Amino acid sequence: MYIFKNYNNSAIAFTPIGHSRAGMNSRPGPTPGPLSDLLYVISLHLPCSLFLSFFFCFIFYTITIFRMANNNIPHLSLCVTATDFEKVAKNVLAEKSWVYASSSAATGLSMTTNLDDWSLINFRPRILRSVDSMDTRRNILGHTSQFPFFVSAMGTLGSSHPGAEPLLVRGATRKGMHTMISTASTKPLEEIMDAHLDEQRLLGNQSPSNLSFQLYVPVDRTRAKSLVQRVKAAGYQSLWVTVDTSTLGKRTADRYLQAQENLDAGVVQNARDIHGENDFAPAFGGRQVPGSVDGGLTWEDLDWISSEWGGPLVLKGIQSVEDVKLAVQHGVQGILLSNHGGRQIHSAPSSLMTLLEIRTYYPEAFDKLQVFVDGGLRDGADVLKALCLGATAVGIGRPYYYALAAYGAEGVERCTDIIAEELEITMKMLGVSSLDQLRPDMVNTSRLANEMWRPVSGNSKL
Ligand SMILES: Cc1cc2nc3c(=O)[nH]c(=O)nc-3n(C[C@H](O)[C@H](O)[C@H](O)COP(=O)(O)O)c2cc1C
Ligand SMILES: *[C@@H]1O[C@H](CO)[C@@H](O)[C@H](O)[C@H]1NC(C)=O
Ligand SMILES: *[C@@H]1O[C@H](CO)[C@@H](O)[C@H](O)[C@H]1NC(C)=O
Repeated sequence: MYIFKNYNNSAIAFTPIGHSRAGMNSRPGPTPGPLSDLLYVISLHLPCSLFLSFFFCFIFYTITIFRMANNNIPHLSLCVTATDFEKVAKNVLAEKSWVYASSSAATGLSMTTNLDDWSLINFRPRILRSVDSMDTRRNILGHTSQFPFFVSAMGTLGSSHPGAEPLLVRGATRKGMHTMISTASTKPLEEIMDAHLDEQRLLGNQSPSNLSFQLYVPVDRTRAKSLVQRVKAAGYQSLWVTVDTSTLGKRTADRYLQAQENLDAGVVQNARDIHGENDFAPAFGGRQVPGSVDGGLTWEDLDWISSEWGGPLVLKGIQSVEDVKLAVQHGVQGILLSNHGGRQIHSAPSSLMTLLEIRTYYPEAFDKLQVFVDGGLRDGADVLKALCLGATAVGIGRPYYYALAAYGAEGVERCTDIIAEELEITMKMLGVSSLDQLRPDMVNTSRLANEMWRPVSGNSKL
């Protein structure tokens, strides 16, 4: 902008001189006198000056644009926390994608409570324990993972990066991390598995990485069953049924964007248009696709899902200790405490609060099934807090969406390295060298416990 203004100024300064020469003289040749000579010389140089000023302006402008572009995408090494990717992604993402990833239900309370509650817990570190050799591996549903964290299911990753889920999976596989693939993925689930297996081959089959599948149960049972069969045939290790989405949450930012788009276009677009090769996706841009999630789903449905699937089953989106008891009764292998990253019910408990609820009222659960947590985890220390309270592993969502958007597979790897390093240094200073040494007495939960739900007297057998 600055350079263009300069260029215009110089053009305005020269033009009248040229004009006046043409207007003042009827005959060709220079007018006598020193001032006229000067003007004549200037006018001879005018085209050249214009060219030169344009040329230099062009160079400066290009450099400025280049610098701005570089400022938008800082060097990957400048991302030192998992939240750093968010700023970068905001600059590179299309507005619609940014809104999709960052939006949450209503005023955002369910999301901010996820983020804030981790800071309500303090560690109680132990000293002078040998922490020379570190082991961060965890067994997740029968398969070792390099880390006690994994990427939680996120739909429509093609909106983050053209490489979509296959690229995310390549980054995760290189790090030995597990990934949960969404029903609402941009790419077909078989293609995503192929990318994982191909990356495995490139790594000499040394990566402990595995893929699990997140299931939105479609209303049509025949479609639902054939989807489960596809997941099974493709070789996914576990099935995570999302149970917090009896309907799509009301996401404010999506609604604003949707309303504006409808006004601009004068038509209501079909949400499936942007979903590319997948028609099991429930929504993008705030519009729910009819039939994509079954509001009629009940505990009884777990029977046919389980027999159709025949492998480890996890319920994703448990938000109260009562439902944990039911999950145990129904014999599932795992539960993921989650409020869907604050995107579903408004005023949800944070996933950490639900974890504390289980620790307080039903600690036996930790021996009966694997307990996972996701929502607002942004630091390796957060991961450890969850593990101290009994979680097997945790899921991480948005930081990976943003890392993928900004840097592709390298971003995914970097984000993993960042959280893994934080995990290790916190473990060392906490005085543990492997995850099985983590105990509830290594954290102080008084502040959070203060706000925890208590059974209404006489009303509960908890
Ligand atoms: C962009 C985006 C898309 C998501 N898509 C799905 C989905 O398709 N299925 C699902 O069960 N959960 C979905 N979730 C919820 C995540 O699996 C996870 O619960 C949540 O992102 C964790 O919170 P965090 O983003 O604060 O880490 C999505 C979350 C985000 C941010
Ligand atoms: C999952 O991990 C196990 C080892 O833990 C491995 O044998 C299996 O092939 C992996 N599956 C996939 C799909 O990568
Ligand atoms: C636990 O945390 C609370 C609130 O921060 C504090 O008042 C209390 O002293 C702590 N207790 C211990 C044992 O550290």
